[in-house]
Formats: sequence, structure tokens, C-alpha cells
Amino acid sequence: MINEGVNLTKDTDVVLSPTSDADLPSKELKSSMSSLLAIAVTFVIVAIAIIFWIFRPPLNQYNQSVLSLSGDPVQGRSIFVMNCVACHGQWANGKVGPNLHGVSNRKSDARLIHQVVSGETPPMPQFQPSPQDMADLLSYLKQL
Ligand code: HEC
Repeated sequence: MINEGVNLTKDTDVVLSPTSDADLPSKELKSSMSSLLAIAVTFVIVAIAIIFWIFRPPLNQYNQSVLSLSGDPVQGRSIFVMNCVACHGQWANGKVGPNLHGVSNRKSDARLIHQVVSGETPPMPQFQPSPQDMADLLSYLKQL
């Protein structure tokens, strides 16, 4: 019994040393794998950030250029008559689309611009006015 026990520990000792030798390269492999994973995760995060960066600025740039211009409400009125009265009524009192009087109290400039250019609320179409046209339209909407 005792002998067997001694023999066993000897055996495991013999078996253990090669495994610990074999463990060393696999640990290196594991650490290089985890650093590779860390690089991959970083890369994905950076890629997502870049995608957001690419897609976000145009909207902000558009908003910024609209808001940097001074709008003419008379011009805005004529743009409104040509594009919006069918749904919002001759005097913006509402038809298919809602009454727009006091809309600027409910919505910020950015949200008003977004409402016009996004096309997110059908049946209202997606408009693509030039920044100056949008500035004119915005100044008209704000004085309703
Ligand atoms: C085809 C019909 C249609 C046309 C054309 C249209 N709209 Fe609209 N509009 C709507 C509808 C419907 C809504 C309500 C959308 C919703 O919130 O679900 C709306 C909502 C809005 C709102 C938000 C109102 C609020 O109370 O939040 C604004 C501002 C607006 N329109 C401005 C315009 C302007 C400016 C034009 C012209 C450039 C225009 N719309 C052209 C149908 C139209």
C-alpha cells in the first residue's frame, strides 16, 4: 500500500513535469490570444466610433449651416406655400398634417429641421432644402 502510494507520487511527478513544460507555451499562447482579443475589441470600438463620426457630422453640419444663416420669413412663406400647404393648410392651420401654429414652442430648431429633412413621419415626405431655404422655412415656422 505504502509502496504503491510512493510509486504513485513518483509517477505523477514524472507526469507533472512534462505537463508543466507543455503548459508554458500554452500560457504564452493564451496571453497572446487575449491581447489579440483586446486589440480586436479595441479595433471594433474604434471602427464603430469612426462610423458614428462619419454619419453624424453631416446632419450637424447641415444644422449648423442652417442656424448660422439668417432666415427670411417672407421667403419661407413662399417655400411653405409651394411645398407644405397641401397637408398643413394654406395658413398652416392643419389639414392632413397638424396645425403648425406655435410649433416652435413644442419643438426646438434642431427638431424642426429634423422634421423637415428626415422623412421619419410619413406621409410627410423627406425634403432636401438648401441650407438657406431651410433657414427661411425655419424663420417662417417660428413666427407662426
Ligand atoms: C404629405 C403631407 C405633408 C407635407 C407635404 C408636409 N407635411 Fe409636415 N407633417 C405631415 C404630417 C402627417 C405630420 C405629423 C407627423 C407625425 O408627427 O406623425 C407633419 C408634421 C410636421 C411638423 C411637426 C408638427 C408638430 O406638431 O410636431 C412640422 C414642423 C411640419 N410637418 C412641417 C412641414 C413643412 C415645413 C413642410 C413643407 C416643407 C411639410 N411639413 C410638408 C404631413 C405633411
